[in-house]
Order: sequence, then C-alpha cells, then structure tokens
Amino acid sequence: MRRLLPPSALARDGRLHRITTTERFSDERDQRDTRRMDPNAPDVPDRARALMHGIFVGEIQALEGAGRTAFDYDTDEVPLQLKLDMARQCWDEARHCEISVKLSGHMGIEIGEYFESTTLFEASCHEDPIFRLAGVNRALEGLAIDVFNTMREFGAAMDDPVLYFCEDWMLADEVTHVKMGSRWLREVTEGDPERRAAALEFQRVVDGLFNFRGARGEGVDAAILLARRFREMAGFTDDEIDAIAADSEAQRRGVEADPVFS
Ligand SMILES: [Fe+2]
Ligand SMILES: [Fe+2]
Repeated sequence: MRRLLPPSALARDGRLHRITTTERFSDERDQRDTRRMDPNAPDVPDRARALMHGIFVGEIQALEGAGRTAFDYDTDEVPLQLKLDMARQCWDEARHCEISVKLSGHMGIEIGEYFESTTLFEASCHEDPIFRLAGVNRALEGLAIDVFNTMREFGAAMDDPVLYFCEDWMLADEVTHVKMGSRWLREVTEGDPERRAAALEFQRVVDGLFNFRGARGEGVDAAILLARRFREMAGFTDDEIDAIAADSEAQRRGVEADPVFS
C-alpha cells in the first residue's frame, strides 16, 4: 500500500465540496462576531450548523491522518506504542464521525452543505512524524478541545442535551489525543532540542492560522474560548496557553488597526 498519501488522493463521494486551504484563510474580515455562538444572535443556528459541519469534516480527516501516521512509519522510525496510540485514535475518530453525522441530522445539516478544506490532513502529511504530532495532535486537536468546549457550553445555553453530551464525549477523547501528542513530542525529541523547537514552531504556525484572526481568546468577546483547564489536562503548560492567547490577541489588534471591510 502507498505511503505518504497526498490530500488530493483522499476518497470522497459527490456530496462534499473541496476548497483549498488558501481559499479557506483568505477571508480577512474580523471573525469574532460571525463565529461567536451567541444564543441571542438571530443567525446563531446557521453559525452552529457551519461550525458543526467543519467539525464533521475535521473528524474524517483526523481519522485519515491518524491512520496514515500509524501506517507510514516502521518501528525503527517511531516507537511501537506511538503507532498503537494512532490506531486507538482511529477508533475514536471513527466514532466521532458517526456521532457527527447523527448530530448533523439533529441540527438540520446536510452533508456537503458547507465546504471541506483538507487543512487538517495536510498537517498530517509532514514527513517527520513528530511534526505531525505537533501540528495535528497538539495544534488542531487542541483547537478541537476549544471548539468542543465552546459548543458544549452552547448546547447547555440552548437547553439541548443531545448537543451538550455529544460534545462532552468527544471533548474527553480529544483531551486524550492532545495528551498523546504532548507525550510523544516530549519523549521522541528527548535529547534533540533542535527537532523539538522546529516541531513546536510548526505547531505555532498551525495555531496561528486557527486563531481566525484573533477570534480565539479568553475574553467575553472571544468566538472560540481557549479551554485552559482541559488544555492543562492534555499536557499544555501555562506558558504555552499564554503564548496562544498572546498570538491571537496580537492578530486581533492587527485586524482592529487595519480593518479590511469598514
Ligand atoms: Fe475527533
Ligand atoms: Fe481527535
């Protein structure tokens, strides 16, 4: 079987509509208002549906990415336990796909109603497995922690126990996946500070994209709340969480200083 599968080779049926990562991040507007799960916003059902569809396609790619990482390396390149963690993650992500499909039905979303970009899978195509763990398990699944916590709170605010418990169960698994990333980044790069620093820089670049121009943060106006407590459980240090918040804050100030559409 072929190793290092490119994103263009992912199998999809005709329902899903692909856009490029460049297209996805080309919207330069301030996204704090349009992304916030504000129960009082008239268009909040559409915001929630768009976010949920994004979660769904992310779950498909998380399954594909973990599967590739379990398969792409031999045990002289990565520890066997790392491969087993990736296999366990596949099991979880497959379950998340099924939960997401059922939750989408519950929320009135059609598969393919919103776009798919393969940014998550692209991060899992890096040739160095530790970069994959940093970019996917720590950056993007760290984002999943923030997003699932945000959606879980939204489910509580809307008195929707189906949404609340689906997000709560997936959140618990994502904490485990991020923890795997934290563990293997630390263990595999023990004694190799340059490789560790480079992987962390890759993680920072991915985190920067998914701050959505400052929409992630800890204030009341943050569209995606940094889930500090769950991130700590997943192996993030206070300094690392502070750095994400500071980077996002800097992006937000940049958008406010130079609004594209005013
Ligand atoms: Fe997941
Ligand atoms: Fe995950």
